[in-house]
Amino acid sequence: MYKISMEVPVIVLFSLLFLHKSFAAELDAISDSRFLTDGDTLISATGIFELGFFQPGRSENMYLGIWYKKISVRTVVWVANRDRPVPGASKLILKITDQGILGLFNNISMIWSSNTTTSGNATAKLRDNGNLVVIDQNEKVLWQSFDYLTDTLLPGMKLGRDYLRSKEWHLSSWKSSEDPAPGELTWGTDTVGYPESKLKQGALVQFRGGPWRNRRFTGISVFSKNLTFTYDVIINESEVSFSFNLENSSLLSGVTLNSSVHLQSWSWVDDGRGWQLPVSFPRDTCDTYNICHAYAICSVNTVQQSCTCLDEKRFMPKNQKGWDTADWSGGCIRRTPLECKNGSEGFIKYSNVKLPGTLNTWFNMSMSLEECHTKCLKNCTCMAYANPDPSLIGRGCLLWFSDLLDIRELPEGSGAGGDIFVRMASSELDSQSISKKNQGGGNIKIIVLVIFPVVLLIGFISTWLCYVRRKRNYAEPTEEGEVLNASNSQEEAMEQPLFSFSTISNATANFSPDNKLGEGGFGPVYKGMLEDGQEIAVKRLSKNSSQGFHEFKNEVICISKLQHRNLVKLLGCCVQGDEKLLIYEYMPNKSLDSFIFDKTQSVLLDWTKRLNIIKGIARGLVYLHQDSRLRIIHRDLKASNILLDQDMNPKISDFGIARSFGGNEIQANTERVVGTYGCMSPEYALDGLFSIKSDVFSFGVLVLEIVSGKRNRGFIDPENENNLIGHLWSLYNEGRSMELIDASCTESCHPPAVIRSINVGLLCVQQNAGDRPNMSSVVLMLDSEGELLQPKKPSFFMETEFPVANFSSSTYTGTSINDITITELHAR
Ligand SMILES: *[C@@H]1O[C@H](CO)[C@@H](O)[C@H](O)[C@H]1NC(C)=O
Ligand SMILES: *[C@@H]1O[C@H](CO)[C@@H](O)[C@H](O)[C@H]1NC(C)=O
Ligand SMILES: *[C@@H]1O[C@H](CO)[C@@H](O)[C@H](O)[C@H]1NC(C)=O
Ligand SMILES: *[C@@H]1O[C@H](CO)[C@@H](O)[C@H](O)[C@H]1NC(C)=O
Ligand SMILES: *[C@@H]1O[C@H](CO)[C@@H](O)[C@H](O)[C@H]1NC(C)=O
Ligand SMILES: *[C@@H]1O[C@H](CO)[C@@H](O)[C@H](O)[C@H]1NC(C)=O
Ligand SMILES: *[C@@H]1O[C@H](CO)[C@@H](O)[C@H](O)[C@H]1NC(C)=O
Ligand SMILES: *[C@@H]1O[C@H](CO)[C@@H](O)[C@H](O)[C@H]1NC(C)=O
Ligand SMILES: *[C@@H]1O[C@H](CO)[C@@H](O)[C@H](O)[C@H]1NC(C)=O
Ligand SMILES: *[C@@H]1O[C@H](CO)[C@@H](O)[C@H](O)[C@H]1NC(C)=O
Repeated sequence: MYKISMEVPVIVLFSLLFLHKSFAAELDAISDSRFLTDGDTLISATGIFELGFFQPGRSENMYLGIWYKKISVRTVVWVANRDRPVPGASKLILKITDQGILGLFNNISMIWSSNTTTSGNATAKLRDNGNLVVIDQNEKVLWQSFDYLTDTLLPGMKLGRDYLRSKEWHLSSWKSSEDPAPGELTWGTDTVGYPESKLKQGALVQFRGGPWRNRRFTGISVFSKNLTFTYDVIINESEVSFSFNLENSSLLSGVTLNSSVHLQSWSWVDDGRGWQLPVSFPRDTCDTYNICHAYAICSVNTVQQSCTCLDEKRFMPKNQKGWDTADWSGGCIRRTPLECKNGSEGFIKYSNVKLPGTLNTWFNMSMSLEECHTKCLKNCTCMAYANPDPSLIGRGCLLWFSDLLDIRELPEGSGAGGDIFVRMASSELDSQSISKKNQGGGNIKIIVLVIFPVVLLIGFISTWLCYVRRKRNYAEPTEEGEVLNASNSQEEAMEQPLFSFSTISNATANFSPDNKLGEGGFGPVYKGMLEDGQEIAVKRLSKNSSQGFHEFKNEVICISKLQHRNLVKLLGCCVQGDEKLLIYEYMPNKSLDSFIFDKTQSVLLDWTKRLNIIKGIARGLVYLHQDSRLRIIHRDLKASNILLDQDMNPKISDFGIARSFGGNEIQANTERVVGTYGCMSPEYALDGLFSIKSDVFSFGVLVLEIVSGKRNRGFIDPENENNLIGHLWSLYNEGRSMELIDASCTESCHPPAVIRSINVGLLCVQQNAGDRPNMSSVVLMLDSEGELLQPKKPSFFMETEFPVANFSSSTYTGTSINDITITELHAR
């Protein structure tokens, strides 16, 4: 009784309010006499933004949000009640209360409010930059939505800290596309040392934007208009903030923190192409926080990222053995330790790098570089100095007091990298100012052309520029503020492997279904014949690949130069419109999985052939890992990626493709793990760490599959709930390995050789990546007869532990539906 009597007046009030509404209104302000309900919206002065109620996706819940009015694809940039959802059927009303609060009410209570009070008459307005403000009668801002960021940073919004009001401005992702509640990811500012932005998952740093800088960028965009971005950095006692602006404020652009693609930049293109999502961060493995550890630098070449010491003359890997197998965990150390005796030490300059993490730093932006040098030299714990923001007329001093972490190489001339002066013992100072690092040594050649052209992400908008530059000629160095010039020089430098679309179309009878060989993870594969009679296999990449034109071509050129008898030869590519085709030599016997896992076909593979296949794959991998000009990690090695020529010689296919041609489907980000379940090494699946040892693991699985004729994935041990590896491991320990040999080759088999192969296979799948041999030792082991090590416990990779977002079949022949490629998998 009591309850009802309380509610009656409310019901009456609301009935009155809603009764008279027959159409949705567009308001320009909310005041004590004008409120927002149902389909009403509040519109900004020139109609760019709109505030109203919405239901994300198929969600049952209703939220108050802001989106672009003119754009048909509703793009929500801000949500008021993100963690206070209201059932969709509710009547909602947004109004200014007597106390001057902007409040969102359902029929009973206040759901959300602006948390301000004023005695005067308050009004709420939506500004043309997307800022919802509550102002008093003197237009003084009492409250603004720009102080309460959700997942989107718009031009003019600030990231950082407001010390006066003890506020932090940071982005947090939505929980899912249908739930705007704060998710796990945040993009905030670390102000312990010199400020910089960090992308975190919970407390774990995933990516660091680099020290902030004021900048001004101009580029010609996809709009064929000049786009000028400015970054504004404020560092003083009252606030530390970063924001960006577009010179032409009528262009729509921003950055969103999204739980699956992370930081995504976007812009609206008027010509019907809709939202463009040029770049997302982290872009590549080198963006992974601290991947190379102390005093090492991460560089990107066409297909692989790798770590090297800052310079090999003065630094060396702490753990050389690990380093050789792409285990970078020790980082590098100085060859000559610092002594700091009598000021005899000095500094070596490294250029074009993303400056190291600033956690343990000190700065004074009024100091000159010389003063900075002197100050650093005086203090034995000062490891390096730099000017973090050269745009401030040569002034600024940043000192590091601990090991230098998370350095990456950035393209020269991009204006994104910086110079850092690193402390060295006096004996190491002979030749001053070397250019960042040894490039001749080792087998890793850096191909500047394909390096992502930009950019130290000082703020976000470099993101944008990245796109602008990607669309153009990356090799061309540009100055800040300079308009990029078009250039065709690279196209002219193109080499032969370009086919015209009509050639390929003719060769495959217009991609006739009759010529279809199968469906790969990246798109269908067709058989074709060129006019000169050469047989080819054509891979038609999914159209939604986001990869740029030049980037694609350059990578094809690089990969087509890799030649080895155990690699499928990539003959070239063809790009026309959004069609991207890869042209390979044709392999008449299709893929290994169609033999080993097939009852009738497997008979054709006797033991000698199987051993030959195992050895051939091993040699192909040694070439990819060590001998080629590029260091390539296959990352998706599996039976369906091993093709067989007419003599049953194995040829590895799709190498380099995972990073190079993935586009939307396969990302090289470490947060997204690509590979085939069952062939994936656990550290890869779990941590997104990939190393040569991940391929070794996949190779081990392949060996065990070839010997047993059974798939690791999908194999169920009748006795225990083990996968193939687990089962084989138990048999091995009981001395019963021979029981697992494929029945169709038992006659031809040579038991000691079989057991040796199983032993090698088990060594390759050991749980600890450091215990696994590298591929050249594998080749030696297979070819020799000496004692082998006893394998340690393998890793039993269990499916259920991993959330799998998306499956797609990925095989060459289309026969092996059990092969599933995980296209997305988040490491927690
Ligand atoms: C208020 O709205 C909720 C949700 O629509 C509804 O379940 C409830 O009955 C309403 N209460 C009153 C008093 O109208
Ligand atoms: C408004 O915010 C202040 C400071 O965060 C807080 O102390 C206060 O309780 C809030 N008031 C309301 C009505 O939420
Ligand atoms: C608020 O507005 C009303 C009508 O516009 C006016 O009569 C009143 O004086 C105003 N109150 C204040 C505190 O300004
Ligand atoms: C993240 O972005 C992708 C691609 O734009 C989109 O499909 C997905 O729904 C977004 N996720 C969330 C949680 O908004
Ligand atoms: C772009 O900027 C350059 C130099 O600032 C200027 O010469 C050119 O006219 C501008 N182009 C457009 C389309 O605004
Ligand atoms: C900090 O910088 C902002 C913006 O330039 C300025 O408004 C504010 O007064 C400054 N505060 C101090 C304490 O200098
Ligand atoms: C800003 O962009 C709008 C929309 O594309 C365009 O119409 C306008 O001419 C641009 N203004 C300037 C100053 O470039
Ligand atoms: C300073 O150290 C250098 C090298 O260690 C040495 O040659 C020099 O004599 C020292 N000078 C003094 C004054 O100790
Ligand atoms: C910063 O450097 C300037 C110029 O050298 C100096 O005057 C000032 O005292 C320094 N401030 C601090 C806090 O060290
Ligand atoms: C060197 O710098 C550290 C960190 O700022 C500081 O704690 C220490 O007192 C300094 N030592 C000297 C001798 O100035």
